[in-house]
Amino acid sequence: MSKEIVRSVPEHIALIMDGNGRWAQRRHLPRLAGHRQGVETIKKILTAGRDRGVKYLTFYAFSTENWKRPAAEVNFLMQLLKTQLRKEIRDLQRRNVRMRAIGDIRALPAAAQQVLAAVCEQTSANDGITMILALNYGSRQEIVRAALALSRDIRAGRVEEQRVGEDLFSGYLDTAGIPDPELLIRTSGEMRLSNFLLWQLSYAELYMTEKCWPEFEPADLDAAIAAFQKRQRRFGGL
Ligand code: IPE
Ligand code: IPE
Ligand code: MG
Repeated sequence: MSKEIVRSVPEHIALIMDGNGRWAQRRHLPRLAGHRQGVETIKKILTAGRDRGVKYLTFYAFSTENWKRPAAEVNFLMQLLKTQLRKEIRDLQRRNVRMRAIGDIRALPAAAQQVLAAVCEQTSANDGITMILALNYGSRQEIVRAALALSRDIRAGRVEEQRVGEDLFSGYLDTAGIPDPELLIRTSGEMRLSNFLLWQLSYAELYMTEKCWPEFEPADLDAAIAAFQKRQRRFGGL
């Protein structure tokens, strides 16, 4: 009798929310309308993930490379971040969501940093689901920051070099304490990582869909989870 592997729902899913602009342009709307609609998708997927028992959801919201976009779009995204966090804080509390941020937050506009810090602090004791926002996030930059912090600790005698291994190094990344994602979802059909969680995704299963982020539905999340559950994960073994 063949035994089928029944894999549970991933504990941590990472999402590259791509295709907001193309979704809008296809509808003859400004790109910004796509970003606005994308926020609605985040809310829906957060609820769906929680209902399915996912413990961590990481959303790639703004990359270190996204500063290259026209100033008007960058400003709009920063405004959107600030106003949405202000608007949603009550609801995040009510829904027992814990918010965390990864990325180099210090480069964000001061007002956005303030409200982000407030939301993270006020929700830090919640234990329903952890929502991680990747903001001004770039994986290479994160690894360089981690290496510098570690080398400072070694030089100051706080860490012995012999103790440095993968686990210790992971603790210097922005994702310290968060388990690695088992599943990565990218929308809009692109087949690349775009500098997202290069270390943490080492053994993640990848799931790409043609759907753009504003049209991504809880049913699409289910399809991704179902695909994940059918994968054979070998981690280099047999
Ligand atoms: C993803 O959608 C959102 C961000 C990167 C902020 P895009 O804005 O990249 O949309 P496309 O890829 O241009 O369609
Ligand atoms: C990745 O999308 C970054 C985010 C979703 C925040 P991009 O649209 O910036 O990626 P590229 O430029 O197509 O690689
Ligand atoms: Mg894009």
